[in-house]
Amino acid sequence: MARLSMHDRLPYDEATTPPRVSTGDLPDPADVQRVVTEAFHLYQANADGVVADYIPALAAASPDLFGISVVGARGRSFEIGDVDTPFSIQSVSKPFVFALVCEAEGYDSARQHLGVNSTGFPFNSLMAVELNDARTMNPLVNAGAIATTSLVPGTTAEEKFEHVRDGLSRFAGRELSMSEDVYASEAGSNMRNHGIAHLLNSYGRLYFDPDAATDVYTRQCSLEVTVHDLAAMGATLANGGVNPESGDRVIAASVCRRVLAVMATAGLYELSGDWLYEIGVPGKSGVSGGIVTVAPGKGGLATFSPPLDPAGNSVRGQLVTKYLAERIGLNLFASEARPTLS
Ligand code: DON
Repeated sequence: MARLSMHDRLPYDEATTPPRVSTGDLPDPADVQRVVTEAFHLYQANADGVVADYIPALAAASPDLFGISVVGARGRSFEIGDVDTPFSIQSVSKPFVFALVCEAEGYDSARQHLGVNSTGFPFNSLMAVELNDARTMNPLVNAGAIATTSLVPGTTAEEKFEHVRDGLSRFAGRELSMSEDVYASEAGSNMRNHGIAHLLNSYGRLYFDPDAATDVYTRQCSLEVTVHDLAAMGATLANGGVNPESGDRVIAASVCRRVLAVMATAGLYELSGDWLYEIGVPGKSGVSGGIVTVAPGKGGLATFSPPLDPAGNSVRGQLVTKYLAERIGLNLFASEARPTLS
C-alpha cells in the first residue's frame, strides 16, 4: 500500500467540499470599540523601541504616530488614533503577495517553490539561505519574499508590479499607490536584498531576474496604506478571502487558510514562537510600524506605531494586539472547560 503523508491532498476536492470551521464571532460592537479605546489609552505613553532608519526615508516618521483599527469579518470597523495617516506597507505586504502567488500557481506548488517553515533567523538573513538545503524557508522573510515576488504572474517587471498593486488594492478595497520617496530611498540602500536575490539565483531558487525581482519587491514594500487598509486586508483573510467591505473575492478560501498558517509560523520572524505563545493569532509586522493580525472568522486587527523592538516589530503594536486578543477573545488556542457529562 502506498505510504500516505500529511502533504497528500485529502481524498475529496477542497474547492467543492469546504472544511468545517472552528471560529466564532467578535463580541458586541460597543464592547469592541470600548476595548480598542482602552488599549489606545493604556499604551499611548509607551516610549519603548526605535524608529527604523536603515531605510533613510523611514527615519523621518514621528514615534508618536499611533493608530488602531479592527475590521470585523462582516465589515464593521472600530478605530482610534492616526487611522488616516499613510505609511509604506513594507513587510506586511509579504503574506498578501504570497496569497496572490498561491492563487495563481496553486498552494502546493507555491510551497514547493518557497517553503513554509520558520527560519529562526532575522528577516534579512543570508545565513538562513546558506544553512538550509531548500534555500528559501518561507515567503515572509526577505529571501522567500523576493522569491515569492519573482513568481508573481507577468513577463516584465512592470506587469508583475501591476499584478501586486492591483491584488493588494483588492485586499484593501481601494486603489493603492506607491510612495516615490520611500521607493527611491530603499532602492538606493538595499544592496543586501540584491545580494539575497543573487544568492538565491545561484542556487536556482529565484524565478526572475534577481535585480528586477528585487526592484518589484522594493516597489511592493513602498505601497502606501493606512491602518484601516491593513485591518481591511486582514479582515479579507479572516473572511475566507472575501473583502467584507467591498464583497470582492480576492483569493480562494483554501489559499486563505494556508496564508494564515504561514503567518502563524513566521509572521514575526525569529519571535514568531513567542508571538503565538503570548497572543495566539496569525500576524505580520513591518518595519514602518504596521502589524496586521487575523482572527479567522472574526476579523482583522491592525496597529500602526513606528518604534520597533530589535527584531523589527512595533512595540506598541505588540502590546495592543496582546491586550485586544485577550479582551475580545482572539486567541485561537483559548478554550474553556465544559461541564462534564453526568
Ligand atoms: O526589505 C526590507 O528590508 C524592507 N522593505 C521590509 C522589511 C520589513 O518590513 C521587516 N519587518 N519587520
